[in-house]
Amino acid sequence: MALTKVSSIFLICLFGFYSQTAAQAYCGCSPILCCSQNGYCGINDLYCGSGCRSGPCRRSRVPVDRIVTQQFFNDIISKASNDCAGKRFYTRESFLKAANDTFDFTSSVNSLEIATMFAHFTYVTGNFCQIDAVNGTSGDYCEESNKQYPCAQGKSYHGRGPIQLSGNSNYGTCGQGIGLDLLRQPELVGSNSTVAFKTGLWFWMTYVRPVLNQGFGATIRAVNGLDCNGENSGAIDARIEQYIDYCKQLGVDPGQNLRC
Ligand SMILES: *[C@@H]1O[C@H](CO)[C@@H](O)[C@H](O)[C@H]1NC(C)=O
Ligand SMILES: *[C@@H]1O[C@H](CO)[C@@H](O)[C@H](O)[C@H]1NC(C)=O
Ligand SMILES: *[C@@H]1O[C@H](CO)[C@@H](O)[C@H](O)[C@H]1NC(C)=O
Repeated sequence: MALTKVSSIFLICLFGFYSQTAAQAYCGCSPILCCSQNGYCGINDLYCGSGCRSGPCRRSRVPVDRIVTQQFFNDIISKASNDCAGKRFYTRESFLKAANDTFDFTSSVNSLEIATMFAHFTYVTGNFCQIDAVNGTSGDYCEESNKQYPCAQGKSYHGRGPIQLSGNSNYGTCGQGIGLDLLRQPELVGSNSTVAFKTGLWFWMTYVRPVLNQGFGATIRAVNGLDCNGENSGAIDARIEQYIDYCKQLGVDPGQNLRC
């Protein structure tokens, strides 16, 4: 009798818990819950099985360090010439460390997303050759009118790192996101490769992952909208070619809507 009472109270609590969490569409899930394909929180197969976006998803997926293998990374960076600054900077370890430190990334990434991300990193940096934007130091990329993220004196916010973070606004918001004062120390992005990859992952999670399911073309627009305005079809082709190559290497289908 007493036992039955306890378990029915338990069930009522559990039910309350469910209906509350199920109402939160689009995944502000508590870390113990899975975010389903359609953006609902829960813990059974419906949520944690196929299509699960985050949380304790049933892992049929491959861990990130088994996707970004040393060989995969080396094949890219070996194409950068020996006088490239990036060649002695970017490492697989620093990528994995940044990935591990980025909330939710390691548990939710798959091979298709890695193919997409590395196609952009590769294109943007020239096979991890560049740390700083080409001719980047010729301007400080400071937008004075931005009072929320004011430029620090003598600092330059030119493009740096795998996604070429640029401008004081991006340095400011990204720094907040990753817990570093990048307005005062923008050079960290070019001197610490874990920080560099963290800025890439921050940009990715903020602007690119949300459009990932629209196809590769949408990710080009998210990374560099200028390339999509009909003026730079060479850049689009180069990114797509890179993407298809990585999809092949990682054994995934490139999908539809490759152009932007
Ligand atoms: C990943 O992060 C966890 C917790 O944040 C930590 O315990 C672990 O050592 C990290 N692993 C690597 C390879 O950095
Ligand atoms: C960089 O500067 C050099 C010399 O001023 C110039 O020839 C080159 O076109 C510039 N490259 C870019 C991408 O702006
Ligand atoms: C690089 O940045 C990471 C993350 O902020 C930090 O843990 C690490 O100590 C830094 N490495 C160096 C050599 O400063």
